[in-house]
Amino acid sequence: MIRRARSDIHGHGVYARVAIPAGYVIIKYRGERITKAESARREAKRLERLRRGLESCTMAFRLNQRYDIDGRRGGNMSRFINHSCAPNCRSEKRRGHIWIGALRDIAEGEEISFDYGFRFRHWASNPCRCNAPECAGYIVEASQRWRLRKVAKGASDQARPKGL
Ligand SMILES: C[S@@+](CC[C@H](N)C(=O)[O-])C[C@H]1O[C@@H](n2cnc3c(N)ncnc32)[C@H](O)[C@@H]1O
Ligand SMILES: [Zn+2]
Repeated sequence: MIRRARSDIHGHGVYARVAIPAGYVIIKYRGERITKAESARREAKRLERLRRGLESCTMAFRLNQRYDIDGRRGGNMSRFINHSCAPNCRSEKRRGHIWIGALRDIAEGEEISFDYGFRFRHWASNPCRCNAPECAGYIVEASQRWRLRKVAKGASDQARPKGL
């Protein structure tokens, strides 16, 4: 039903091999279940690599208040699904598991994407290249994107000479 291939968004992505109808549950997000403390430790390492100009992906997915699922270990193809600000899939948590399902009909060959739902506070570390016309510029959950607009406005106000 899906396959992995190079993506214009980032690295590898996941594509529909066949047309997928809206509502279809495509894949379970598999991986290692880790505590928030371990997840924070891995994220700090990732950010450190980024600071040094090295490539570094996050594959940790928020499961609940105590645990995340890290697709890097024990993961399946779902760990290659990229984020989009206009996704065709969504993630759903059910009884301690995460599932990725189609939000709308998906055509054969289309790249599969979902909203990573990253918290606003990490915005600067996660530039978005999803190419959607409504791309927010950074990977931030939909309900928090208005805050990005505020940041952008603050920056342009600062650049404007006083009195204008
Ligand atoms: C779970 S991986 C997705 C698979 C990844 N493309 C790869 O080849 O390993 C998540 C990482 O992919 C990259 N990524 C996913 N969606 C992105 C997007 N819309 N814009 C920029 N980078 C993205 C980021 O580096 C993110 O940390
Ligand atoms: Zn985007």
